[in-house]
Amino acid sequence: MKLWRLHPSDTQLEDTQIFQDICDALSDGKLVAIPTETVYGLAADATNGKACASIYEAKGRPSFNPLISHIDSLEAAQTHAFFDDRALKLAEAFWPGPLTLVLPKRPTSPVSDLAVAGLETIALRVPRSDVMRALCKHTGRPLAAPSANLSGRISGTTAEDVINDLKDHLSYLIDSGATSVGVESTIVSLVGKRPTLLRPGGLAREDIEAVLGETLVRAGTDDSAPMAPGMLTSHYAPNSHIRLNAEDVAEGEALITFGANLPKGSDKAAKLVPLSDSEDLTEAAARLFTALRQADLGENGKIAVMPIPHHGLGEAINDRLARAAAPRD
Ligand code: TXA
Ligand code: MG
Repeated sequence: MKLWRLHPSDTQLEDTQIFQDICDALSDGKLVAIPTETVYGLAADATNGKACASIYEAKGRPSFNPLISHIDSLEAAQTHAFFDDRALKLAEAFWPGPLTLVLPKRPTSPVSDLAVAGLETIALRVPRSDVMRALCKHTGRPLAAPSANLSGRISGTTAEDVINDLKDHLSYLIDSGATSVGVESTIVSLVGKRPTLLRPGGLAREDIEAVLGETLVRAGTDDSAPMAPGMLTSHYAPNSHIRLNAEDVAEGEALITFGANLPKGSDKAAKLVPLSDSEDLTEAAARLFTALRQADLGENGKIAVMPIPHHGLGEAINDRLARAAAPRD
């Protein structure tokens, strides 16, 4: 891990060699810890599924929570999501700043399925941090970044926090001292009818309501409000019935494969959708949500999934598959 120490008086960050090197590392799918005004972010190219998989791997997250995609401007944000009048008002009032907007994702957005955990919505934020915005701009990529801490630990607000939790996973750490806001961004969803507060954070609810001219519903308290963030991973589910740890395949089932040793009856499968032929769990995680979609045969369809080991990212993959396979009403 290389450390880049920024000083408040530093300008023209883009002209330095290390800035260029960090752009290259990000474009190459590497992980970089980047300060924002809220907390340090564990950043990777949001359009690169494998890079996003390595975020979950580094954090040791046992499940795939969707990630926030950071961009450098409202204009860039509009290429990834549909902005209605409310979204435009909030973005114009509070970006750059500690506000994340959850919006309907444009089908043309290159943000990976894993970054949004298979959802048709996307969380977007233009941070106040100059260096984060400059990196988004110069790489030409949205940067997916959860807080830079191990799963279950508190969010890193200093470079030391980040080093303690993540140093072995990082290509670079950019140190700009303690973050100014110190808590995560406020998350507002504009996907449902009523604007909904998904997570209180660095921007006060009252300030948001003053600009919107209406009150924010608290997630999960009203039928018109979308689910709370913790419930999100159960949101996207294929229509087909899912069978896990399949050791054989029935006529007409779609088979999601892992490794090259296919189970008996694979020749009768309606289709084969590989997660990773080389049994690489990072690759499998990167492909998971796209694979579920591809394997889906519709209402009466059936999907069989080969066993996936439980170590490393396998834990999150199995968690997601178990939710998709759980009986629904
Ligand atoms: O201040 C922050 O927001 C920091 C800095 C680095 O920007 N990031 C951060 O990310 O706190 P993270 O991953 O720790 O929290 C992201 C939250 C999760 O609770 C997730 O459920 C929610 O955002 N989220 C992401 N995409 C969503 C979506 N499409 N719908 C609803 N919630 C979403
Ligand atoms: Mg976090």
